[in-house]
Amino acid sequence: MAQIDRLFSKIDPDSGTFAFDQNVAKVFDDMISRSVPLYADVQRSVPVLTGLLDHDPIRVFDLGCSTGTSLIHLSASLPKRNLELYGADNSQAMLDQCEDKLSTLELAHTIQTTCVAVQDFEIHDASVVLMNYTLQFIPESDRPALLERICKSLRPGGFLLISEKVAHERAAMHDALTDLYFEYKKGRGYSELEISRKRDALENVLVPLTMDRNEQMFLAAGFSKAEVLLKWFNFATFLCRV
Ligand SMILES: C[S@@+](CC[C@H](N)C(=O)[O-])C[C@H]1O[C@@H](n2cnc3c(N)ncnc32)[C@H](O)[C@@H]1O
Repeated sequence: MAQIDRLFSKIDPDSGTFAFDQNVAKVFDDMISRSVPLYADVQRSVPVLTGLLDHDPIRVFDLGCSTGTSLIHLSASLPKRNLELYGADNSQAMLDQCEDKLSTLELAHTIQTTCVAVQDFEIHDASVVLMNYTLQFIPESDRPALLERICKSLRPGGFLLISEKVAHERAAMHDALTDLYFEYKKGRGYSELEISRKRDALENVLVPLTMDRNEQMFLAAGFSKAEVLLKWFNFATFLCRV
């Protein structure tokens, strides 16, 4: 079980040094659920949207699967569906936490995880590709080709569910949304020191794009539609269809 996230109350990292290492992995489930608005709603949507597909099997790839939260929730929610579940993440520490969680559960499906950069991960005949809060960590120059590959891998009717932190094109709005987000985190028990240290650590590591830029990239990759499914100030979830 994830420990309470007090990481940045104890350490003062240099700017731009955030990594999904063992320290982060141990507290990750608590960190993400307290740091990302609408995170639980995104998770809730995964089995609901997947359950609408008539594919057999339903093959799901979770890119940046972290501790396996989405795939575990999917399996537990749709035990009678023929699901093939694959997760990829380039942090072994995160996947170790995923294995720990899996060892305590009796799921109806096998979840196969691979420690690999998603840019090198083979995706084929996909029904669903999940990529929640991960594209933002991938070099901007790698994003278009990865999205194009995801789009080509999807079977008819399949979809990409992708969530991102987003920037605003107007600086004043961007700052206002950032302030609202800081208030959100304070309301979830983080101190101002913890919030500012984590923000510094994420500088140039998490690189958000604007809503328009994301949408343009999804359409340029070959998706016919990029629907905004959820939006909270500076966070958005898109449902991209082939
Ligand atoms: C914010 S977490 C994703 C959260 C997860 N999708 C969820 O919904 O709980 C980002 C994850 O992406 C992984 N990651 C970042 N860059 C990656 C890359 N190039 N290839 C594979 N995984 C990557 C990190 O190790 C981390 O586990």
